[in-house]
Amino acid sequence: MKFIQLYGDRGLTIVKGEDQYVWDINGTRYLDLHTGIGVAFLGHRNRRVIEYLSRQMENIMTLSTSFSTPIRDEMLKELDPLKPDKMDNIILLNSGTEAVEAALKTARKITGRKKIVAFKNSFHGRTAGSLSVTWNRRYREPFEPLMSPVQFLTYNNIDELKNIDEQTAAVIVEPIQGESGVIPANEDFIKALREQTQKVGALLVVDEVQTGFGRTGKVWAYQHYGIIPDLLTAGKAIGGGFPVSALFLPDWIAEKLEEGDHGSTYGGNPMAIAAVTAASKVLKEDNVIEQASIKGEIFKKILQEKLSDLKSVREIRGKGLMIGIEIRFPPAIALKVMQDERVLALKAGSTVIRFLAPYMITQSDMEEASNAARKGIIETENKRATG
Ligand SMILES: Cc1ncc(COP(=O)(O)O)c(C=O)c1O
Repeated sequence: MKFIQLYGDRGLTIVKGEDQYVWDINGTRYLDLHTGIGVAFLGHRNRRVIEYLSRQMENIMTLSTSFSTPIRDEMLKELDPLKPDKMDNIILLNSGTEAVEAALKTARKITGRKKIVAFKNSFHGRTAGSLSVTWNRRYREPFEPLMSPVQFLTYNNIDELKNIDEQTAAVIVEPIQGESGVIPANEDFIKALREQTQKVGALLVVDEVQTGFGRTGKVWAYQHYGIIPDLLTAGKAIGGGFPVSALFLPDWIAEKLEEGDHGSTYGGNPMAIAAVTAASKVLKEDNVIEQASIKGEIFKKILQEKLSDLKSVREIRGKGLMIGIEIRFPPAIALKVMQDERVLALKAGSTVIRFLAPYMITQSDMEEASNAARKGIIETENKRATG
């Protein structure tokens, strides 16, 4: 049997994780700012998450959501203070793309309209519906025709928002475009987007699969922008490492959904519920949001200090602990050098080194990561200079 590698092989065998570190098969420790593409924001093997999963495993591991179980009530209680504004309802699913599918289906059902608006350079997942609203043609075109009509507008361009019309069921937007290069939305743009969607009766879906659950220094990244969306998708960080995703909905939308409108065998299974419960407790008890906000500023400052003299560094940007270093060439060599320096990061877009750091990252970790990035960028510069 062979494992099909769809993500590119990093050439490392990892055997253990603890907080912000992972260890390879030879016992070498790595600072993990890759975090499973942003999943382990609460660190590897977070104690609370282990405690909740272990306890749940002793009781029951699988149960259809047709049956109630006490951990579900506990999750709803723990999640309540963290829920997106006015969104009292949650549908639990398994992966980010499934939450996006559920959001798009919900928007079509609620509005009775078909057209979806998305943005250039967006990434929303790889199943058919989510792929239709994902910009990258390489991912999309081999599988067309996908869901339609979908119109892509330019991110951060207010003029183009007039294309959102009375045919539009929903507009889906990442508050910070993650996969395409850690590109934050402008506040004016998000405000104008909210206004236009409201004007024409289209739903505004914020896709917070990557930005959500504290990473950017707010529970939800849309909270940086002073708007309230209609639907919110979450994933990655919300399960503290366990695979789970969610669609959050306000009452007026949730009330219109009926049995059979959506579903998933594993969605909302007790283990996932226990993981979300634990993750919610960690977020509150450990001041995760404040830490992400403060540490994000410190990390950016250290990166500026260590990298800004390099001519191939164009920009260091991001919010909280979602940070990108835009360079003038593809980051593959730099990422490899960083890995050799025992720092794991990932790329975003074609020219960005991305850090999705866990909240317990320390100042010395940040310095280590910045030194590794400096070495990686300089080695790439040298390699390119010598051809
Ligand atoms: C904004 C956004 N939406 C959706 C997804 C898809 O999530 P998943 O890979 O869990 O299906 C991702 C994954 O990176 C994402 O960043």
